Amino acid sequence: MSNPAPHPEVLAAFEQAKGFMPVDEGLALYAAAVEAAALGLPLLEVGTYCGRSTILLAAAARDAGVTAVTVDHHRGSEEQQPGWEYHDAGLVDPELTVTAADGTRTVRMDTLPTFRRTLFAAGLEDHVVALVGRSPRAAALWGRPLGLVFVDGGHTDEHAGADYEGWAPHVAPGGLLVVHDVFPDPADGGQAPYRIYRRALESGAFAETSVTRSLRVLRRVADGV
Ligand SMILES: C[S@@+](CC[C@H](N)C(=O)[O-])C[C@H]1O[C@@H](n2cnc3c(N)ncnc32)[C@H](O)[C@@H]1O
Repeated sequence: MSNPAPHPEVLAAFEQAKGFMPVDEGLALYAAAVEAAALGLPLLEVGTYCGRSTILLAAAARDAGVTAVTVDHHRGSEEQQPGWEYHDAGLVDPELTVTAADGTRTVRMDTLPTFRRTLFAAGLEDHVVALVGRSPRAAALWGRPLGLVFVDGGHTDEHAGADYEGWAPHVAPGGLLVVHDVFPDPADGGQAPYRIYRRALESGAFAETSVTRSLRVLRRVADGV
C-alpha cells in the first residue's frame, strides 16, 4: 500500500516555507503523522524554526481532528547564528542587539514572526499550539501521552539528549518517535541525533519502521526509553 500524500496546497506551502527538510523526508514525516494521528492523540515537534515541517504535522492533525504542538525558543540553533553555515540574515531581529563586556555586538534571531506568517498563509493556524521556550522546560510541564514526537531541535548532545529524555517517555504505545538528521557516518553530519536514535533502539522500547534519507521513524513497542 502506498503512503498517504498531503493535499497539493499543503505540499506547495511546505515547499515554499523556509527550512531545511527535503521533500522526500517531508513526505515520510507526513505519512508518519497521518498514521500517528489516527491514535487520536496530539503530535509534537521539537524545532519549529519557520514552520516548514510544522505544516505537515498540522495538516495531518487537522484531518484527524487532533492538535499539533510545536516547541522552539525561536532564537535559532548554534549553526544558525551569524557567521555560521545555516545563518539566514533575514531572520534577525534588528532591535535585539546584545553588547558583551568586551564591546562585541551580536544580533539575536527571531524566527517566530516568519513561522506565524507561514502557518497563517497555509491556513493551518487553528490546528497548532506553539510553545515558545526551551524544550526541556516545556517537557518538564508536559503530562499526557503523544501520538508522535518529532525531534528536530538543537543538534548538540546536550540538546538532542534532553529532547529524547524529555519527550520520548510521552510517546504512547504504538505511537511514533521520528528523528531528523540521523547520520550513521560522521562524514555526513553531526552525531547527536544518531546517538539518540541508537539509544531509542537499544532501549528495546522502539523499533524502526522507516528510513528516508536522514529521517528515521520508530514505533513504541514496549515501555521505557
Ligand atoms: C533544524 S531547526 C528546525 C527545522 C524545522 N523542523 C524545519 O523542518 O524547517 C532547529 C530549531 O530548533 C530550535 N532549538 C534548538 N535548541 C532548542 C531548545 N533547546 N529548545 C527549543 N528550541 C530549540 C532552534 O531555535 C531552531 O529553530
